[in-house]
Amino acid sequence: MSTRVIKFFMTRSFKTFLKHTAKDFHNQSVNPPVVRASTIIFKSMQHIRKTQKKAKKNPTGGHFDYGRQGTSTTYILQKILTKLEESYHVFTTPTGFGSVFLAIFSVVRPGDEMIVADPVYSPTRLLTQDYLKDFGIKTIFYDPRDLKTLEKNITKKTKLIFVENPGSNTFDFQDLGKIISIAKKYKILTAMDNTWGTPYYLKPIKLGFDMAIVSATKYYSGHSDVMGGSLAVNKKVFTKVKEAERITGLRLGPDDAYLITRGLRTLDVRLDRHRENAKKIAAFLSRNKKIKLLYPYKKDSLNFRMWKKYYSGASGLMGLKIESKNINSVRKFVNSLKLFGYGYSWGGFESLVLHQEFRETGNRRYMNLAKNEHLVRLHIGLEDPNDLIADIKQALRHLK
Ligand SMILES: Cc1ncc(COP(=O)(O)O)c(C=O)c1O
Repeated sequence: MSTRVIKFFMTRSFKTFLKHTAKDFHNQSVNPPVVRASTIIFKSMQHIRKTQKKAKKNPTGGHFDYGRQGTSTTYILQKILTKLEESYHVFTTPTGFGSVFLAIFSVVRPGDEMIVADPVYSPTRLLTQDYLKDFGIKTIFYDPRDLKTLEKNITKKTKLIFVENPGSNTFDFQDLGKIISIAKKYKILTAMDNTWGTPYYLKPIKLGFDMAIVSATKYYSGHSDVMGGSLAVNKKVFTKVKEAERITGLRLGPDDAYLITRGLRTLDVRLDRHRENAKKIAAFLSRNKKIKLLYPYKKDSLNFRMWKKYYSGASGLMGLKIESKNINSVRKFVNSLKLFGYGYSWGGFESLVLHQEFRETGNRRYMNLAKNEHLVRLHIGLEDPNDLIADIKQALRHLK
């Protein structure tokens, strides 16, 4: 698809843009072709040089001389995501975690320090806390509910503040504007994992973050059949990330790019429905005295205020803090759910449950969990919410 066509659709509402973009006007198919290539053939030596010159002059322009740099299929996805993120550019990687890695690897060097939100996705925690330590990079974790723990740990060596919002498992919503102003005050770069809300509900680059990550495996694809990641950047960090992307070869393949582009067409429709369903389930669960909802549903919570301040909507992933002296009854509740599959990767059409007993939350510093409290995560899918409520109701009978 030509840049001219993309520009035309960029002038329309985003919901319309998602449905109409990526049309291949050459063969009149509604969907773009999947262009698979390792080798790109040029007419002559002069032709390859001309393309490379164009790529140098316009590094976001989709000029490729080798398959690892992508093809028109990945380029179309990047263009759609750049529009969605309202960013300077979006890099696409083979997994969401690949985007987390690329963001950090692009800007942090041996001797530097990082400040990371305590409730980050556990592989992000293991990467920063353990693995990067061996490369001379120190990580300090901050309490998402107390940003003084962030500011007081800033030193001359601090290079990056890495935020995940809301935090994995405990769903803490942070004061993102405050984090950005602290970062600006000390001239520190910022990255945010925005997989929960996606730029449909919150645009981190517009807010002032330098980098924004989304696991495309989740809501972008929406069908639990593909993995991918996106890393949106502003102009300030673009060259650094481009260089790191080239060195690591972390690029999404065209078949996966096609599936993610296909999923994106219904992103707004699915997320609106995930949100409606989740609201109904939250209303039902909030009547249960044993359960504290970790979801922006009730107006009186700190989480609600922080969510409302920055987000235009909420997705379908929520936490339940269950009070029970009987852990076996919590396990029984989880195991008795029939419509909620027990599995990790959320964001698809189907509902899921996870008991956090099996997650690496143990090494978290600011856990805020009492002895008799247990964390359960629900992903509310696109099923009929009445069926989901009936299922939860029957499973709750086991909770003591
Ligand atoms: C918040 C968050 N970030 C990143 C990832 C990693 O994404 P992927 O599974 O695509 O590597 C996940 C996966 O569960 C996640 O929940």
